[in-house]
Amino acid sequence: MKKWFTLLTLALFALALTACGGGAPEKKASAPLKGRALVVYYSRADENSGVGYIEKGNTKILAEFIAKATGADMFEIVPAKPYPKQYKAATEVAKKEKEENARPEIVGTMPDVSKYDVIFFGYPIWWHDLPMVCYTFFDKVKLEGKTVAPFCTHEGSGLSDTDRFIAKTTGATVTEALEMYGTKAQNWKDEAKQETLAWLKKIGYEK
Ligand SMILES: Cc1cc2nc3c(=O)[nH]c(=O)nc-3n(C[C@H](O)[C@H](O)[C@H](O)COP(=O)(O)O)c2cc1C
Repeated sequence: MKKWFTLLTLALFALALTACGGGAPEKKASAPLKGRALVVYYSRADENSGVGYIEKGNTKILAEFIAKATGADMFEIVPAKPYPKQYKAATEVAKKEKEENARPEIVGTMPDVSKYDVIFFGYPIWWHDLPMVCYTFFDKVKLEGKTVAPFCTHEGSGLSDTDRFIAKTTGATVTEALEMYGTKAQNWKDEAKQETLAWLKKIGYEK
């Protein structure tokens, strides 16, 4: 009887430990970020969800805040084949690309990341993932050994685990991400800027 009681107590204790978050630790940067930084981003203008036709993509607005605040260089990922200007048509093209695990071509020469320690990486959430053109970038530019600070805009899906996708795909150390509604970035720029600066401070970035 006593033995069963002891075994039951041990089993309950083990269960409690598992419930308290036993899973594999996530790869996060802990030390303050330092060194030369590059902002890499993909962002689409034209018609989008909640904002109508826009001249500057939502993520691009955040990319510019980050570059200005940190003095980082910038690299824009430009797909060789532009997406349709209409929102619905663009979602259909993007859906097909995701289903096919496509790697859309990028215009121009990729940046030489050997000069940088920190890569701020910006993207919109597309179908609960990064746009496939971002994976083209990861195929071409090796980010292992770098620190990647992800930032994204979306219309309700949040990060959708994309920070983990980036860590898994690149092998980089990934910091806490910034995620923001695209409508906020586009329509409430002061608030969006303050939030972006607070995130930079939180992840320990200093110029
Ligand atoms: C092709 C496509 C797919 C999208 N999929 C999602 C989605 O799965 N979840 C979501 O919250 N928003 C989704 N959105 C909305 C965008 O993430 C949002 O509007 C974002 O701010 C766009 O950023 P950008 O202007 O920098 O491209 C999608 C938009 C497009 C064009």
